[in-house]
Amino acid sequence: MSVSDTWERGDPYERYVGRWSRRVAPLFLDWLRVPAGSRWLDVGCGTGALSAAILDRCAPASVAGVEPSEGFLATAKANLAGKASLHKGSAATIPLADGSVDAAVSGLVLNFVPDPAAALAEMRRVVRPGGCIAAYVWDYAGKMELMRYFWDAAQELDPAAARLDEGIRFPLCNPEPLSRLFGGEVRGIEVPTPFASFDDYWQPFLGGQGPAPAYAMSLDEGKRNRLRDRLRERLPARSDGSIALTARAWAVRA
Ligand SMILES: C[S@@+](CC[C@H](N)C(=O)[O-])C[C@H]1O[C@@H](n2cnc3c(N)ncnc32)[C@H](O)[C@@H]1O
Repeated sequence: MSVSDTWERGDPYERYVGRWSRRVAPLFLDWLRVPAGSRWLDVGCGTGALSAAILDRCAPASVAGVEPSEGFLATAKANLAGKASLHKGSAATIPLADGSVDAAVSGLVLNFVPDPAAALAEMRRVVRPGGCIAAYVWDYAGKMELMRYFWDAAQELDPAAARLDEGIRFPLCNPEPLSRLFGGEVRGIEVPTPFASFDDYWQPFLGGQGPAPAYAMSLDEGKRNRLRDRLRERLPARSDGSIALTARAWAVRA
């Protein structure tokens, strides 16, 4: 089975994972302690979750975002309302001059980049000597619970789904490989991901943005409904129907 990761439409991405990246970003930035007045780059800025937090908390001199998806860039433009300069591009060829920013950061992107070491080299190129280079990714194999429940249920019904499980596909998303790649410090950042109901959990998967939703939408309706029902059985719902999960990101700085 071949299912692409799918980054096309910003609004469904926001409902699926953008809303949780927005909770991690401020904690990540507080950890970095980059001085006010800095020039920032957000690699793979998507719909603008991390850029928005930089604008809110870091009093930047400037924020540039680089993102390959036109659909996501359009949502980022609307979300950031002209406060960041947004460029279509990829982590492999960042369209900025050498040493032109003070901080280069990236949220939930590095594992999707074909060559993370080359991406890191590009981040180093555009950051001035002594500047900040840092990123966060989900702990897919462990405490990114909304996805962990999803892939565990998917594999109970279809062992072949293991090939698409982000916990298996992305060994980079663990403290040791991240620390090795960056030659730096890793820490966990945990945020609550509360769902008001099972529907609040399940509906965002139907938007098809990102690996797990793309997998859900690749199934025929019967199989998708079986996956939905299995998840309903497995998730720890409270008596009022709400579901309290946790998401952990691994943050790393060079
Ligand atoms: C999970 S989203 C994260 C978006 C945003 N940074 C956030 O925190 O919500 C992954 C993003 O990586 C982008 N992406 C995928 N491959 C990329 C590459 N080679 N270079 C830069 N960005 C890439 C996708 O288009 C998508 O916007």
